[in-house]
Amino acid sequence: MRLDDCHNFHDFRNLAKRRLPGPIFDYIDGAADDEVTHRRNTESFERCDLVPRVLSGVGEVDLSVTVMGQKLTLPVYCSPTALQRLFHYRGERAVAAAASRFGTMFGVSSLGTVSLEEVRKAHRTPQAFQFYFHKDRGLNRAMLERAKEAGIDVLMLTVDSITGGNRERDLRTGFSIPFRLTPAAMAQFVLKPVWGFNYLTHEGFRLPQLDSHVDMGGGAMSIGRYFTEMLDPSMDWDDVAEMVRLWDGQFCLKGVMAAEDARRAAEIGCTGIVVSNHGGRQLDGSRAPFDQLAEIVDAVGDRLDVLMDGGVQRGTHVLKALSLGAKAVGLGRYYLFPLAAAGEAGVDRALALMREELVRDTTLMGCASIAQLSRDNLRFR
Ligand code: LAC
Repeated sequence: MRLDDCHNFHDFRNLAKRRLPGPIFDYIDGAADDEVTHRRNTESFERCDLVPRVLSGVGEVDLSVTVMGQKLTLPVYCSPTALQRLFHYRGERAVAAAASRFGTMFGVSSLGTVSLEEVRKAHRTPQAFQFYFHKDRGLNRAMLERAKEAGIDVLMLTVDSITGGNRERDLRTGFSIPFRLTPAAMAQFVLKPVWGFNYLTHEGFRLPQLDSHVDMGGGAMSIGRYFTEMLDPSMDWDDVAEMVRLWDGQFCLKGVMAAEDARRAAEIGCTGIVVSNHGGRQLDGSRAPFDQLAEIVDAVGDRLDVLMDGGVQRGTHVLKALSLGAKAVGLGRYYLFPLAAAGEAGVDRALALMREELVRDTTLMGCASIAQLSRDNLRFR
């Protein structure tokens, strides 16, 4: 199987599975507990049907949207995700380059493996910085200042990860950062030689957003331990209100699920929220973002931009979310498997397929632009 044979999410996932060491594939693919929420995220789109309109004289389709002041050529963006250099040696550099070519936003994570400044300098496309609120307030202040100085367009504070989710696949495989050279890991270098060669012959693994404050060299750490030991579960609305004031720009909460929290986000001056359950990786049993979307759009859609992510694998999933009132839709595993499968060329192909699907499906819906989508286009079963 080659990149050209990849026509959808499942093809990219299969190719990534062949190329990646098992523990790394499972880190991306896995979720919390029984992974029920992870499965439901995608299933939720299937309980809702599109009702197309005909003979509306579509012509050219305009897929552009404006979200939190950022003009995007596509209504999808690459959500910030951690540790990309483990998946492919070009990591965030590859994702940023592909997103930029498609004129859309990408996010760099606090747990990113390339510095937020480097990708900012390399690309003009809108860039979000995903912020984890650490117990170490000095680290929080320093990261905020760095992001401001670098000219980051959107600050995205993750609020659903104040402690580690129970990722049982990672417990079983012993997945940790940095990737530990245990005998089992050494075996992976033999089993996946192309990945192993690239991992060993390119620049070493780093966490440049954190490494001036956190000593990751002192031993490997699981993602669960990072969340639980380093992040601050006492973070509250007052802390975030202060961050919003300090940031003084586009500020978005990622991981809001309740309409009441969405209202509070608007009250403290957030300009956006991402309705998200972290791809089912945190609280298993949590509702699917798509199922919560209408209620949240109704509560705050006139006061801030509502985005969503979780389970998106198809252009039609995106159109359903946009029809309910989301302003843009985040992609996670959708671009991570292609990244692992084929680096920048993989992400490029995945975004190209998404764009093709969106143009085709918007046309078939009888709409010439994203603004023409509405709830009239949807029926729930
Ligand atoms: C995860 C974090 C790091 O889901 O975002 O693994």
